[in-house]
Amino acid sequence: MEKQIRPKSPDTLLLQRISGAQRDRYNLLEEAAWRASRYLTELNERSVFPTPDALAGLAAFDETLPEAPRDPLEALTLLDEIGSPATVASTGGRYFGFVFGGSLPAALAANWLAGAWDQNAALAAASPAAIKLETVAQRWLLDVLGLPAETGIGFVTGATMANFSGLAAARHALLRQVGWDAEAQGLFGAPPITVIVGDEVHVSLLKALSLLGLGRERVVRVPVDDQGRMRANAIPRISGPTIVCVQAGNVNTGAFDPVAEICKIAHAAGAWVHVDGAFGLWAAAAPARAHLVAGIGEADSWATDAHKWLNVPYDSGLVFCRRAEDLRAALTHSKAAYLAEGEQREPMEYTPEMSRRARGVEVWAALRSLGRSGLAEMVERCCRHAARFAESLTAAGYEVLNDVQLNQVLVSFGDPDKTRRVIEAVQQDGTCWCGGTVWQGRTAMRISVSSWATTEEDVERSLEAILRIAAAL
Ligand SMILES: Cc1ncc(COP(=O)(O)O)c(C=O)c1O
Repeated sequence: MEKQIRPKSPDTLLLQRISGAQRDRYNLLEEAAWRASRYLTELNERSVFPTPDALAGLAAFDETLPEAPRDPLEALTLLDEIGSPATVASTGGRYFGFVFGGSLPAALAANWLAGAWDQNAALAAASPAAIKLETVAQRWLLDVLGLPAETGIGFVTGATMANFSGLAAARHALLRQVGWDAEAQGLFGAPPITVIVGDEVHVSLLKALSLLGLGRERVVRVPVDDQGRMRANAIPRISGPTIVCVQAGNVNTGAFDPVAEICKIAHAAGAWVHVDGAFGLWAAAAPARAHLVAGIGEADSWATDAHKWLNVPYDSGLVFCRRAEDLRAALTHSKAAYLAEGEQREPMEYTPEMSRRARGVEVWAALRSLGRSGLAEMVERCCRHAARFAESLTAAGYEVLNDVQLNQVLVSFGDPDKTRRVIEAVQQDGTCWCGGTVWQGRTAMRISVSSWATTEEDVERSLEAILRIAAAL
């Protein structure tokens, strides 16, 4: 396709035709685009965590509610002048906290345009364009993640709601098999469902269980190994309606539960396997890492984040369900006359929400701009950067606590107190940002490399800062 550049700046022909409110809106949005672009351009040279002065500046927002309308440009200016410096540069190249992805240029640009569209992606009748893009994105997602072609998908807010939705489908299917309609009757008096999790289950999955009435404390916990992987041979004998929750990508170590083995055990006993792959599922898209998720396609439902390793803006998660009908049956509403439904897939039947923004647009744009090889390279690059962190920290005499196979590094700088002081000083230094954790009793700094924006230079600059700080303490 020929490269399309905006006709002229400013767009003189268009501007001649508009005046008043339309002209004001045009100018406001141009100003917003300019300020946002400048913000991102300058981001890599500022402190990753906002300075104390920038944080103190937030007090300027403590105004009383204006009694009368004010110029929208004032709000934008305040946001940029007070808000921008106080943001955490988590979309820049040297943010390694939690598991935060950045925003790919194509995904961010699509987000801006889709914001202007302001589409409600609940129904085909409300946005044919959004539904088309989501439909194409679905096909591409199943392709790059290696999931069965007939899998159903919901575009949700994040992995927490993706876990919720996948587990809702499991609850539906398992109870239906024993003659109980969970959606119509609720859970009072229902046959019990056993939920099996690894001892390293992510808290968001437990939250999803609690929202579903399955309870976060009545789970059966299976012991894990030194990387946090569920020990498949320690899964208790399964009988009756059972969900086995597998983790693909431990939030600390990046390790994967042995999904193929677990699926075999679970399916032999008629259980449902749900995979929490908030970031780890993307390993499937990188040929050199795909062995980590071998057998993942055997599961029944999967949860992941697009705002993590696909690097689309917040908030964006994805639920996948092998039998689309189970997801639909769990999340659809009862009939309402004004929601005339046609033959088409209605997106709101596959998500907990009814009205929602057209999240699939950014997913489509990310995949459209990266292509298969670009996605593989982005995932692989993050893993290479993580390996480089691990190698340099080890060479400097510090202990890396995990087997770095993905994008997560856990490092101890000595005793817990020293490690905590290093983490605090690194955060204050501002060159990069890393969080802390306690891994199987050991205090550690967590480095998560999850952004397209991280370059080799960012890694070296961050290493220089971390090693300088650790040596001085
Ligand atoms: C394994 C795992 N599951 C679920 C989540 C929750 O994701 P979200 O915050 O996008 O809902 C995370 C977040 O880091 C995670 O690592």
